[in-house]
This record gives sequence, structure tokens and C-alpha cells, in this order.
Amino acid sequence: MKLWAGRLQGQVDEKLNELNASIGFDSRMYRQDITGSIAHARMLGKQGIIPAEDAEKIVAGLKDILAEIEAGTLEIDMTSEDIHTFVEGELTKRIGDAGKRLHTARSRNDQVALDLRMYLADEIDKTVELAKDLIAALCEVAEQHLESVMPGYTHLQRAQPVTLAHYLMAYAQMLLRDVDRLKDCKKRTLVLPLGSGALAGTTYPLDRQYVAEQLGFGGICMNSMDGVSDRDFALELMSDLSILMMHLSRFSEEICLWCSWEFKFVTLSDSFSTGSSIMPQKKNPDITELVRGKTGRVYGDLMTLLTAMKALPLAYNKDMQEDKEAVFDALDTAQLSLEVLAPMLRTATFHPDNMKKAALGGFINATDCADYMTKKGVPFRDAYCVTGQLVNRCIELGTTLDALPLEEYRAFSPVFDEDVYAAIDLLTCVRQRSIPGGPAPETVKKQIEAVRAQI
Ligand code: ARG
Repeated sequence: MKLWAGRLQGQVDEKLNELNASIGFDSRMYRQDITGSIAHARMLGKQGIIPAEDAEKIVAGLKDILAEIEAGTLEIDMTSEDIHTFVEGELTKRIGDAGKRLHTARSRNDQVALDLRMYLADEIDKTVELAKDLIAALCEVAEQHLESVMPGYTHLQRAQPVTLAHYLMAYAQMLLRDVDRLKDCKKRTLVLPLGSGALAGTTYPLDRQYVAEQLGFGGICMNSMDGVSDRDFALELMSDLSILMMHLSRFSEEICLWCSWEFKFVTLSDSFSTGSSIMPQKKNPDITELVRGKTGRVYGDLMTLLTAMKALPLAYNKDMQEDKEAVFDALDTAQLSLEVLAPMLRTATFHPDNMKKAALGGFINATDCADYMTKKGVPFRDAYCVTGQLVNRCIELGTTLDALPLEEYRAFSPVFDEDVYAAIDLLTCVRQRSIPGGPAPETVKKQIEAVRAQI
């Protein structure tokens, strides 16, 4: 029987049911729904709004239901309209009239907002832990490659020497900001909507602060109409997850490139690779391709809710039920991506020799060659021009700056000496970039320590 059988008569159309029901996706909030109801019932009892014995019966009944769902002995009835209806119905089946008092001074509008806020706060914690684990994995691999020189790129053209450690730690920095954003979002998520009622509050003397404290909320929302119709917290979370996925997608793209024979900077372990049904030689980085691809899906989830919320008049509208599938999908996708990238990274084999080869072939020490001349008194612009000519000469001779004979250097400028080779040695180039934020091994080591302290 429907909740509203007093007002509406007859059976609802089956297709309406299919469109209207949300149990298929909101059942995952059963724990939050029950925990929220326990806090509400306790408060109703404390305030003398319902008899204390009834409040006790409700709390005990709800605890049993929760325990049984968790133990797998009580199955959620998927023909219920939503999780709120199921829990209340099950409670009333068990304890009778007392169960019917649970919904006093509450609407599903403030109830669903409460459940979703609680659920998302828990999931934010989980996501933060997963992001921290990926940061830890980046630090672990970086530590092994403080001196693994590789080309840094601009325009995807070899630009200047960096190390794999420095490269990976750039992603650790992005993820640290993601963690920070998620934690910040949690603050705005844990604002209690309960007490907003359907939209206009309630005439009962509720103690909202008490409920907030019991549920670990930082405060209560100050306008009942906003309380039931605000979904900013879900939008903010999906924005944060979109940025996070953008970072994961960039990292994934690097791995896809680095796995190719054109780069071969890394080989993924077999357990994190896939093969082809026709080409026997193939070993594909499907994981990173999928993370890259799924990023679009998370952006789509954000757009789904932004669009659903756009132009909704106050207060609750059923459109808002669309929030859950979008935000759950965004969370599932981001969490799975984090979960798979960390072990993939930990089990990957990087190839410093190939990185070095790429670094040597790309004239990425040309800036250092110009700097060498500058240190000997040549104005930078002139040094820049001469070095450009030297690079051309190398291309002509099919050689590199490191291997170009000193006579060749001298033919362009008398300032060159034997010590030019030390100055443009790739590791030297990296070591000398020891300013804070630079790729010098000692500097990156400090960066790793600082990042570890934050996670
Ligand atoms: N399933 C609904 C949702 O997710 C619960 C709120 C229902 N409220 C209502 N007035 N029908 O939004």
C-alpha cells in the first residue's frame, strides 16, 4: 500500500511506479536512513513529542533492522517506493503503533536530504583515504627514481631534463589539492536539514542542535526552504570529483604514452594489463584508457545534476531525486579509478635507461648550455642564439651536445672549455635545479617528505 492511500485511491500505474520509485538506487543509504531515524526518535522522546517508551521501542527496532540488513538476514524489499518507506514499513510491522510515530515532525524531503548528506560525508572520507593511498604509491615510486633523468615536455616536445621522481610528485601535488577540496566540501555537507519538514519547518518543539550533535553535523541549516532544496553539496562533490578525475586522466594519458614502444618508459605488470583477441603480441594499458574515458562520465554526472537543478523553483521538486544516481556514479567511478591506479603504479616497472636515451636525444640540455655561456659573461640572448646554432650543427653531424667535440664548440664561441661537458651533463643539469620546487634529487626528497607529512 502506498503512503498516500488516504488521499489517492486505486492502484498506481505500473509505469508510474517504475519512473517514481527510487529504491533501486537509494537502498544503498539504508545505514544513514536508519541512523538518522534513531537520532530523530531519540530527540522526539527527549522533547516529550512522543512517549519515551515509544522512542525506546523505535530505537531498538531500528537497531535490529540495521543489524539484520548488515548480517544479510533481512532483505530490502525492492517493491517499496524508496528506502525511507521500506525502513518505516518494516519498523511498523515489527513494533506496531510506536513505529507509526517515527515520522512525526519530519517529511521525506528533509529526511532524504539528511540521508544523502550523511552518505556523501562517509563517501568523502573513503575517497580521501583512496586518494591518499595513491599519493603514497606515487611517493614510493618517486623515492626509487630520484636520479632517473627523463625529458620534461612542453608541447609534447622534449624540453628540459627532470627526473621521474619530480614528474610523479607533480601528480602527488594535484592529488593533495583534491584531498583538501574534498575535506572542505565535507564541512558544507554536514549541515543538518532535519527540522525543515516538507518545506516550512514544523510546529513541534524539535531540538535540532541535539540531532546535529548526535549525528556529527557541524551545524543546522538556517532556512527550511533552502534546507530541503539545497543540493549544492552534491554538486560541489561532483565538481571536486571532476577535477580529481581530470588529474587521473592526465596521469593515465602519460602512462598510455609511456607504455608505447615509441616511449617505453614503463611496463605495466601483467596483472594490470590486457591482451588482444587477434594480435598475439599486444599488451594494452586498458586500465589507464578506461580511467581516461570514465573521466567524461564523471563530468557528465556533474552536468546531469547541474541541469536538473537549473531553474527549479523552491522548494522540493521530484526532479531532485535525480541527484542520487549521478552522485553515486561519480563516486563509484572516482573510487574505482583510485583503487586500480595505486596497485598498478606499485607493480609497474619503469625503465630509466630508455628515459635517459630520450633525454640525451632531445637537446634538453640546450638551456643549460646557454646558461653555461651566460655564466662566462655572454649576454643570455647571444648565448641563446649560439646554442641554437650548436644544436643545428649537432643535427647536421647526427650527434648530441654531450658528444660534440670541443673544437666544434669553439668554432662558435671562444668561451667554451672542457668544463662545458660537466655543465651540460643531464644529471648535473637536474642537480643544479635545487631551488624549492625544482627537480634536484635532494629537493625532491624534501618534497616527498613534506607530502608524506600531509597524508
Ligand atoms: N525518493 C525521494 C528523493 O530521492 C525522496 C523524497 C520524496 N519526497 C516527496 N515529496 N515525494 O528525492
